[in-house]
Amino acid sequence: MKYSIYKGGRHLEIVQLFSDTFPFEENNEEGSLIGKLAKDLLNRTSETDLKVFLCTHEESIIGCVMFSKLSFHESKADVWLLSPIAVKKGWRNKHIGSNLINHAHSFLRNSGVQIIVTYSEIDFYPKVGYKPLSVDTIQTPLIVACPNCWIAISLKDSIIRPITGKSYCVEAINDFRYW
Ligand SMILES: CC(C)(COP(=O)(O)OP(=O)(O)OC[C@H]1O[C@@H](n2cnc3c(N)ncnc32)[C@H](O)[C@@H]1OP(=O)(O)O)[C@@H](O)C(=O)NCCC(=O)NCCS
Repeated sequence: MKYSIYKGGRHLEIVQLFSDTFPFEENNEEGSLIGKLAKDLLNRTSETDLKVFLCTHEESIIGCVMFSKLSFHESKADVWLLSPIAVKKGWRNKHIGSNLINHAHSFLRNSGVQIIVTYSEIDFYPKVGYKPLSVDTIQTPLIVACPNCWIAISLKDSIIRPITGKSYCVEAINDFRYW
């Protein structure tokens, strides 16, 4: 099992992984939607605003997680948004997802990233250190239906200090369907 930062050339395989991973809806709409998110992040986001990490096994991609920049007009805090993540069916619950996130956290911490946020209702993220985040501490970039699904981890300090003002996500994920 190899964990690494993605350096390009495998966009189609990555998009396929996400499209295959999210067939939650009967009409597979969610599969297509998260595949579209992965595709748009890869194709429409500048290199400086996107970091992608892979888990590979014998050259095959079995896990992927993406982080995109969250910006603020009134703060230079280095904050990134984790979304989406997928581990291939048949490989789940073998600690690949958590190892992949921990690998990415180490890389991002060494690059100076302070805080990672994400928006999810699944109980997986507390296993890798994420805790509930008040929207008063860091605003969600879009209005969300589930404020309790807004969670974060600090990669530097023990607490997350409030960041004043509105947050802005990258264009690819600036769509209420993902929130
Ligand atoms: C969620 C996902 C990325 C987790 O990756 P994984 O490799 O299966 O998870 P891990 O084996 O590293 O799990 C680490 C811990 O989290 C738990 N966990 C895994 N998936 C979970 C889930 N969906 N809900 C709650 N807990 C979960 C595991 O039981 C394990 O607990 P333990 O440490 O007490 O044994 C993967 O299951 C996946 O791709 N799921 C489908 C796509 C998805 O839901 N993506 C996230 C959308 S927000």
